[in-house]
Amino acid sequence: MSNVPLLGVPLMDRDHQTLDAMFERLPTTADADLPALFAAIDAETRAHFAREETLFAEVPIAHCHLAQHALVLGEFDAAAARIATLDAAALRTLIGVTLREMIVGHVGSVDLVTSQFLGGHMTADATANLRLPERPGCPV
Ligand SMILES: [Fe+2]
Repeated sequence: MSNVPLLGVPLMDRDHQTLDAMFERLPTTADADLPALFAAIDAETRAHFAREETLFAEVPIAHCHLAQHALVLGEFDAAAARIATLDAAALRTLIGVTLREMIVGHVGSVDLVTSQFLGGHMTADATANLRLPERPGCPV
């Protein structure tokens, strides 16, 4: 049973299902194997984001999506830095709740908007009136 919605973009849907299947392995993963599961999800998330970002060339507000990817990967970095200090219960919560909900939320928000554009259900001018803060490296 998948926790992520299908978006109609094959690359995104295939990758999201792969990640979801990895999260689904958590309950049957032995405590000793939790760091390896985390490492596998971490690696797959990074590879998925890189693949997904190849779709962004004409997508409006892609910089916001890229920023969200960076935020998610920052959470994975933070998790990796403290994984050795966590007991199995805390590690299960980190993987199965914190990180999984972050991924599911990402799919249901910026991925959903991106898929609407890629599927021809949204035009670039749909975001023309958005006013986002200008920051170096974050073009508006
Ligand atoms: Fe994304």
